[in-house]
Amino acid sequence: MLRRVHSIAGLVLFAYVLGHLINHSLGVISLDLMEAARPYFMAFWLTWVGTATLGIAALTHFTLALVITLRRRRLSMPVWQWMQLSLGIAIPLLLAEHLMSTAGGRLGYGLQPTYAYVLTSYWVAGPLWKAILHLALLFVAWGHACIGLGYWLRTKSWWPGVAPWLLAFAVALPVAAAGGYLASARDVIALAKVPGWISALAAGIHYAGAPLEAFVRQATLEMRLTVVAILAALLVARTLHMLILRHGKSIRLTYPDGRIISLPRGGTILEASLAAGVPHASVCGGKARCSTCRVRVGRGGDLLPAASALEAQVLRRISAPPWVRLACQVRPTRDLEVMPLLQPGGDLRSAMREASMKSDGQEMEIAILFADLRGFTKLSEKKLPYDVVFLLNRYFATMGEAITDAGGHIDKFIGDGIMALFGLQSGPEQGARDALKAARAMSVALAELNQSLADDLSEPLAFGIGIHMGHVIVGQMGHSTAVTLTAIGDVVNTASRLESQTKELGVELIVSEVVASRADVSLMHYPAHDVAVRGRTETLAVRSVTKASLLPEIAA
Ligand code: FES
Repeated sequence: MLRRVHSIAGLVLFAYVLGHLINHSLGVISLDLMEAARPYFMAFWLTWVGTATLGIAALTHFTLALVITLRRRRLSMPVWQWMQLSLGIAIPLLLAEHLMSTAGGRLGYGLQPTYAYVLTSYWVAGPLWKAILHLALLFVAWGHACIGLGYWLRTKSWWPGVAPWLLAFAVALPVAAAGGYLASARDVIALAKVPGWISALAAGIHYAGAPLEAFVRQATLEMRLTVVAILAALLVARTLHMLILRHGKSIRLTYPDGRIISLPRGGTILEASLAAGVPHASVCGGKARCSTCRVRVGRGGDLLPAASALEAQVLRRISAPPWVRLACQVRPTRDLEVMPLLQPGGDLRSAMREASMKSDGQEMEIAILFADLRGFTKLSEKKLPYDVVFLLNRYFATMGEAITDAGGHIDKFIGDGIMALFGLQSGPEQGARDALKAARAMSVALAELNQSLADDLSEPLAFGIGIHMGHVIVGQMGHSTAVTLTAIGDVVNTASRLESQTKELGVELIVSEVVASRADVSLMHYPAHDVAVRGRTETLAVRSVTKASLLPEIAA
């Protein structure tokens, strides 16, 4: 609830800042145009409803941000969250003088502030450092708003399509606004040299002179001191509270690797993970929007407090079973076993894709890719265990990247083999195309890897890839700490069989005709074979490809 109110208040402020910056950017054309457009941009905000809305939104947003942050038992946060918080705290400090000399002057002294007045007070009457800080406010407010908005929107399914456009807009608008602001400041500096211009300006805006200046000075100081005092008071209160908690009984969280972390009462599982350096995905930064922090709870899970409405809503959306909870929302009251379900660092789309998979399984038509290193056992016999692990991890990282970049989901690494699924979300045709793209990319990546490891290898690494597709059962399967999204069915066995056939045929890739036809990719010029498949009376038509890197490039 707090977060929702905080976000709504933030959106009101964003609407104001957005209009303000667009208005500023008109200064690139002329000061007059910027001024002429101002009444339209300010039409709502200058009514008493608008002014009250803005004031309440600002107070609510600021207060709740502090409350939400200080409610955390640990202050370990991702860099972007620290950045957003720091910019947010800087806003009232930077804004104080501007606010008092415009809104304060308007309400208390009947001032009719204009762009010319504001720019004159900073760039003609004031010291340069104040003018620069005033300009900086524009970037600080916009940066704060964009970080918050970006991390909210990136959990939406349509985000990847619009992200580049929004990013371009997010960069272009403040640059244009600063351009307009500076161009108009230059005009004002020139106009101020014209005899009588400043007195005409003061008369036009009903400038109250010394009493207004004294008020602005005093009110600015008071506002800044109030903000600093609130921050200091909250920090002191938090420190005292933490000291009290530290002396109370803390909760023990047990992770799958046997690590035990103690968490002060009232903290969330995610806070405990981050503070202890346990890798834990949290794409939305703990705002119950992404579900990537979800954990399977073991012993002690039945004693957890019930999910809040917000958490329950997210868990429903991903059809989570009762033993899955959001680490960013659960505040355990007893010792608990937890297992983070998603790897941190994965991309959001694949996380959301996995999230949407029903845990009780569903039948789907997808493409399956198997890859296996050739002769790795022999090669590893001549190497120290450390070198083998290093080599395999380099290989898995390279192949994993090629697969996920092509839109695949890595099901598992088995020994030196890889199983990947394609089309979980995009459908069978795209899945077939993505699997072929992945095979090509893996082959190219293997050649590059061989080049970079040339000094460490007696002979280059080689692999075989088999790709087949059809209907399989997909779901979260496994037990306890070993639950993954996987596929089962004959198609899986057949894809694995095609991979082993690559040894017999001495090629890098064998792909079934079904995949080629679903992908709408012609493999006619590659040798055709009929492969016997266990459990099938008919043979399976396949194509063999000497080097997968020679496959035609496939459009997205
Ligand atoms: S971190 Fe996004 S829902 Fe928990």
